[in-house]
Amino acid sequence: MKLTAVNVLSVASLPVIVLAHARHPNPHNYRQVLAASPSSSSPLSSSSGTPASGTVVSTTLLPTPTGSTPSISLQSTNPTAVPLSNIVVNAPSAATSIMPSPAPPGTTPSNIPKAPGLPNISTLSPGNYPPLDRPPPTDSPEVQQWIKEVQESGVEIPDFSPTVAGGCPANPDAVADSSRCWWTCGGCTRETDVTTCPQKYNWGLTYDDGPAPYTPDLLNYLDQVKLSATFFVVGSRVISYPALLQQEYLKGHQIAVHTWSHYSLTTLSTEEIIAEFGWTKKVIKDVLGVTPTMMRPPIRDRVRAICEAMNLIPVMWTRISPTATFDTDDFNIHGGVTNVQQVLYNWENILGNVSTIDTGFIVLEHDLFQQTVEVATGYILPDALAHQPSFKIQPVVECLDLQPGDAYLETNDNSTNPLPISSDGNSTNSTSSSSGQSSSGSGSGNTKNGALTGAVMNIGGLAVTVVLGVLAITL
Ligand SMILES: *[C@@H]1O[C@H](CO)[C@@H](O)[C@H](O)[C@H]1NC(C)=O
Ligand SMILES: *[C@@H]1O[C@H](CO)[C@@H](O)[C@H](O)[C@H]1NC(C)=O
Ligand SMILES: *[C@@H]1O[C@H](CO)[C@@H](O)[C@H](O)[C@H]1NC(C)=O
Ligand SMILES: *[C@@H]1O[C@H](CO)[C@@H](O)[C@H](O)[C@H]1NC(C)=O
Ligand SMILES: *[C@@H]1O[C@H](CO)[C@@H](O)[C@H](O)[C@H]1NC(C)=O
Repeated sequence: MKLTAVNVLSVASLPVIVLAHARHPNPHNYRQVLAASPSSSSPLSSSSGTPASGTVVSTTLLPTPTGSTPSISLQSTNPTAVPLSNIVVNAPSAATSIMPSPAPPGTTPSNIPKAPGLPNISTLSPGNYPPLDRPPPTDSPEVQQWIKEVQESGVEIPDFSPTVAGGCPANPDAVADSSRCWWTCGGCTRETDVTTCPQKYNWGLTYDDGPAPYTPDLLNYLDQVKLSATFFVVGSRVISYPALLQQEYLKGHQIAVHTWSHYSLTTLSTEEIIAEFGWTKKVIKDVLGVTPTMMRPPIRDRVRAICEAMNLIPVMWTRISPTATFDTDDFNIHGGVTNVQQVLYNWENILGNVSTIDTGFIVLEHDLFQQTVEVATGYILPDALAHQPSFKIQPVVECLDLQPGDAYLETNDNSTNPLPISSDGNSTNSTSSSSGQSSSGSGSGNTKNGALTGAVMNIGGLAVTVVLGVLAITL
């Protein structure tokens, strides 16, 4: 449905805050952001609303803050959308929906035939997990075990020099080194990366960084319009909202890994990255009873080889040229780096590009902030649902023509969807796991200060270089 004339008028007549200066959001402050959010259980949910009608409606021209952003026209918006003038930096916190209760232990999702029953999360003890929003220590027995498994997987971890903070401009040598295949700086991908849905007009719908206080509003809307998505969750958020994760899973959404602390991965040591993935896989297993097989790296830094060694398929988002990346930039409304009009303009450009490509697509969006949920439920999703030709909107695993159960180790069909590491812990890539002498003794009990001793180990006949100190792998 389009905005009524009255709504358009009231939206247009409200002053829209335009921020001249941009404060870059610090991912390390997520916990503070979430802690500052209200936990009120008012039923006055701000962003859930009635579903889009599904009929084609006349285009709604939305107001823009200044002449700086071109005008935006959407096919459809949610009749209960939060006005654009309220989707701004420093917006007063809207009331949050009631958080779900833990699901009865043993419950199974209806879309995964052989799923194990849900664990009893009343027994979940945060004290058994690493601290929130910090890279987990690497000297724990759990992390030591995961390090050993990576070493014994037969996957070669490339020995690249570390990148420094500051992104592409600060790392000219790494950018120029094509052997790194650095997706962030140049868009390089490998065969193993998922960046699109194969079929044209199929959208692999994804949300990053939750579970978070406004995620229930997104879930309510997705329910109303009968859509499922992929949620790339932050492990420490799962500790905060385990019942919410269960609800996402039981509603048929795909759950995937988005690290434990959301640090920029290239600033962490190899062992710390293993800990980030390992703990996130573990907490999801402890809450859902299943272990995800897909992941998305935060801050666009990537660690392909470690993903492979830990049975995680990297899922990026579609990028058709250096200037046409399918990133709504919704994340940056909260910090004032962008505004909602620009985000919707980015969305319009994505739609324009979608019609020009032969494949489907994946878009970067977030369920972390009030603003990101409001723009998704109020504008982007209703507009997408009204799009002609119509989109097929699905979780990534399904747009890849896999079964919902293939999103998890325990329910994966290993005959139709072989994972990188087989159940005996070895790489299924025959060229990378040659037979020969095996020596894995150097992997245990040798860590100090979170760094493996620099060594070239002969594992399964393969020379595996373990990088000392700082991680040097980029996707
Ligand atoms: C779940 O665990 C709690 C805490 O240990 C216990 O009181 C409860 O009986 C358990 N529920 C089931 C269904 O096992
Ligand atoms: C594709 O996206 C780019 C960058 O956002 C934009 O400049 C271009 O106009 C878009 N193409 C179409 C056909 O909309
Ligand atoms: C598929 O293989 C994984 C190990 O890669 C194993 O854990 C899982 O149990 C297997 N799935 C099934 C359905 O046997
Ligand atoms: C798989 O790993 C085990 C030890 O983890 C080893 O004994 C076996 O030879 C490996 N198999 C292959 C095919 O590499
Ligand atoms: C298999 O391993 C070899 C050697 O490490 C590597 O060059 C190749 O890209 C790998 N193939 C896949 C599909 O991962």
